[in-house]
Amino acid sequence: MMKERPIAMFDSGLGGLTVVRALQEFLPNEDIIYFGDTARVPYGIKSSRTVLKFAEQDCDFLLRFKPKMVIVACNTASALALDELDSKCPVPILGVVKPGAAEAVKQADGGGVAVLATEATVASEAYTKAIQALSPYLPVIQQRCPSLVSLIEEGRSGNDPILRALLKEYLEHVQQLRPAVVLLGCTHYPLVADAIIELMPGSKVVDSARATA
Ligand code: DGL
Repeated sequence: MMKERPIAMFDSGLGGLTVVRALQEFLPNEDIIYFGDTARVPYGIKSSRTVLKFAEQDCDFLLRFKPKMVIVACNTASALALDELDSKCPVPILGVVKPGAAEAVKQADGGGVAVLATEATVASEAYTKAIQALSPYLPVIQQRCPSLVSLIEEGRSGNDPILRALLKEYLEHVQQLRPAVVLLGCTHYPLVADAIIELMPGSKVVDSARATA
């Protein structure tokens, strides 16, 4: 592919910058146009109809820049809207769910996978389906982390006591199941990966951002 045209990427907020960071690491010569819909974040608590509408608007906006491809960095939009977007988008479009699921299956090596994601992503079961399409008998559990995105958008890090207390609560059940892999199925979670790694010492922490890049 020629470099002259940029790669366009959107997320519901700043979390997608974790995908930009990973992409810059792997493809340092590419131009990236990033749109973060910070005015309407979070997407993860909205209906699938609203997420689809927002994702279509985000995509249309980015197409003005004549990108050579669009990356849907938002897990929620990838889970709920990718097929629809793909049917209308004039350039190749890539979501984060399939690459993240593939990496989780690879790293799990037959062990279980725990997917941490927003409420909408969990409800869609997109990760479970993508993982089990690759490995039908692999045990998959999903854990919603509803308030994590707001705390991260507020600028709280993995050291923040409120964020840590909340994370501890979300991971309590997951810890007992001892999954081989914890998959960060939300753009924002890599920003607090240090705290997640600490709370899940026996699991490999895989993030969809790097897998997509
Ligand atoms: N970008 C969303 C995701 O990856 C997280 C933030 C939100 O809820 O909008 O699922």
